[in-house]
Amino acid sequence: MDVLVVEHPLARARLTTMRDARTDNAAFRAALHELTVMLVYEATRNSPVAEEKVHTPVARTTGYRLENPPLLVPVLRAGLGMADQAHKLIPDAQMGFVGLARDEETLQPTPYMESLPESLAGRPVLVLDPMLATGGSMVYTIRLLTDRGATDVTAVCALAAPEGIKHLADSGLPVRLVTASVDERLNDSGFIVPGLGDAGDRQYGAV
Ligand code: PRP
Repeated sequence: MDVLVVEHPLARARLTTMRDARTDNAAFRAALHELTVMLVYEATRNSPVAEEKVHTPVARTTGYRLENPPLLVPVLRAGLGMADQAHKLIPDAQMGFVGLARDEETLQPTPYMESLPESLAGRPVLVLDPMLATGGSMVYTIRLLTDRGATDVTAVCALAAPEGIKHLADSGLPVRLVTASVDERLNDSGFIVPGLGDAGDRQYGAV
């Protein structure tokens, strides 16, 4: 599986703000928004473009646009904090939604909502979730997508644990990963170490 780690200094600075336990909810959301722009920018670097003619105030020239805008799929809750920024970068993208809560004991994802187009054949998909921990939530989400015919899926995550990357790679699903960091490990509670805590709670408060 292809893994792209975005180590741009500005991305590292945003991730540092997110890691810092003193960062409040508003500042955490702002840093995630900005980091998302950088991750989606890199995730779409090699997307095919279509040419079109454009008239500048001075002359006619060749312009470009995404040939096949992706479906954006934030994984609720935490992925919601990436959705608007990704959509601003790709305004003609459609958006689907998957809602999952990880059981704190078993660490298994429990689905509570799903809103996706019926067919995804031929459509690239960007799945947005700040955290890849055990990888259970991402694998569950990507199976929903491949069941609908998706064959080109990119997981966009602020940070990832090696265990989650292995789970994703071993799943055999057609996915690549774009992340700002591969952290050290998971702890016994399934939290990424050093990580940033719970990305949902840090954006929206504990539930
Ligand atoms: C977190 C995170 C991922 C998932 C990662 O969400 O946002 O979706 O856990 O864990 P995994 O790789 O082990 O599956 P959580 O279930 O806590 O829900 P939330 O987004 O509502 O906070």
